Amino acid sequence: MNNTLDEFIKKNTALIDQQLDELLSKAQIANTLQESMIYSVKAGGKRIRPLLVLATLEDLGVNSTDGLAVACSIELIHTYSLIHDDLPSMDDDDYRRGKLTNHKVYGEAAAVLAGDALQALAFENLTNLSSTSAESSLKLINKLSKASGANGMVGGQILDIEGESKSLSLDDLEIVHLNKTGALLSYCVEAGAILAGLSENLTKQLEKYASNIGLAFQIKDDILDITSTTEQLGKTVGSDATSHKSTYPSLLGVDGAIERLSTHHRLAIEALQPFNKEPILLKLFADYIVNRTT
Ligand code: IPE
Ligand code: IPE
Ligand code: MG
Ligand code: MG
Ligand code: MG
Repeated sequence: MNNTLDEFIKKNTALIDQQLDELLSKAQIANTLQESMIYSVKAGGKRIRPLLVLATLEDLGVNSTDGLAVACSIELIHTYSLIHDDLPSMDDDDYRRGKLTNHKVYGEAAAVLAGDALQALAFENLTNLSSTSAESSLKLINKLSKASGANGMVGGQILDIEGESKSLSLDDLEIVHLNKTGALLSYCVEAGAILAGLSENLTKQLEKYASNIGLAFQIKDDILDITSTTEQLGKTVGSDATSHKSTYPSLLGVDGAIERLSTHHRLAIEALQPFNKEPILLKLFADYIVNRTT
């Protein structure tokens, strides 16, 4: 990995993990619920979404004390989405982030409730920003609800599940990906733009960048599900084929999917061109998303 990005990731992952710890330790709730929430959040993961918020802020030259809190809210929503995604009624997977899935350890009821509680905590956290105006806070809450709800991640998840019993066209599949994965990734970049007070024009460019890395991210996830190993990924490979999912590799073959991946990578980089000063971290992030091995 590029040195600049590597250093950025190391430094900021530590800050993100520390802030997540603090958020979760504050919850005064039934022990099992708290334990199961902490289990999945602390299991790790690449923290790509919170890192993207912080990368956007750094590239835009903004030093926002609330950036970390906003970043952590997204990771809470993402972790909730993974816990639910692994449930027997959804992808029915046993491993996540190198450990047994939440429901395998705590049972289905606790896993559903841990996801619910992480989601609520994410929104509560956004009501406590210290240096962001009420108007911007509301905007962040509004955008995160949209990105995570029926017209975003959750909406994409139902289309993905329904797609198991029919074969989707490439256009249908793009809609699934843009919703189940792209919406939250786009929010990360948009949240950075909101905190930075970025102009409408440049925000549009960042949205283009984000929807392309969102698609690229899921295409790469689907390729890794075929070409990687359970040990390397920390989650069960072959899960998509077992559930008869429509994916880019299943529709286009692995080589066709790799070609699509590079198209979206190129489009993401092109979207960054209108910026006077090149958003270097966002560019490196796009490279990382397509080249990643986990
Ligand atoms: C996995 O996301 C779920 C998808 C949207 C494809 P990540 O690959 O970012 O998972 P973690 O956070 O690193 O575990
Ligand atoms: C999940 O997509 C997207 C979510 C909203 C969690 P996948 O089902 O492909 O994610 P993995 O492969 O289980 O991480
Ligand atoms: Mg899934
Ligand atoms: Mg899954
Ligand atoms: Mg997958």
